[in-house]
Amino acid sequence: MNLILLGAPGAGKGTQAEVICEHLHIPAVSTGNMIREALKNGTEMGLRAKSFMEEGKLVPDEVVIGIIKERLQQDDCKNGFILDGFPRTIPQAEALDNMGIVIDKVIDIEVPDEKIVERMSGRRVCEACGASYHLLYKKPEKEGVCKCGGTLVQRKDDHPDTVKERLKVYHEQTEPLKAYYEKQGKLSIVTGQEDVADTSRLTLEALKA
Ligand code: AP5
Repeated sequence: MNLILLGAPGAGKGTQAEVICEHLHIPAVSTGNMIREALKNGTEMGLRAKSFMEEGKLVPDEVVIGIIKERLQQDDCKNGFILDGFPRTIPQAEALDNMGIVIDKVIDIEVPDEKIVERMSGRRVCEACGASYHLLYKKPEKEGVCKCGGTLVQRKDDHPDTVKERLKVYHEQTEPLKAYYEKQGKLSIVTGQEDVADTSRLTLEALKA
């Protein structure tokens, strides 16, 4: 099954991508994680993406389309994949169509903007392995420390002002994708719940629908 997870920044796409990945045994492909990894490794692409990302803007389409094209050609994507954070613009969705990739389902996770700001300010990520925690909803066993032993930090783009910019960009450039996939009859909407487990149950139900 080829899936897309849509939703505002912090709606819980990454969290649900992990759940579906375990359930269907298909890889989760996150453009955000791939860009952060490139940045950590100091590659040319990572350096190009840095300022866009840190300001809460989208990285140029041609950069992201290039990395997705290469990633989806890898063997582990042969039996399906979950796209988390791609496409984020209409040209990215069209590029996916032009690659001849058939998307089976698009799940849009809906969370109000006010809730997003609260969630993002509490998110902490591991510097070493990238695992995500939350100060209230997903606490690490030991404060400030990941289960891998790495240090937990706040992502630069999780600061409230940057989150507001990311939400603005989402409403302007990414939200129109809902209509794009609705027209294709592929869109399912999941209302994000207070409890991660409740959202996961609704997401798995949407997969079967
Ligand atoms: P990316 O990493 O994709 O960021 P994002 O979409 O903004 O998504 P997040 O990872 O911030 O949130 P999420 O929806 O995965 O939520 P999560 O599950 O972590 O992209 C970062 C940047 O890279 C972009 O801004 C852009 O610059 C660039 N980029 C990436 N892809 C691009 C593209 N295609 N084109 C152009 N540029 C691109 O959850 C958030 C928090 O909430 C967590 O702490 C979690 O524990 C908590 N939480 C989750 N679910 C619940 C729940 N049900 N109840 C309570 N808490 C919850």
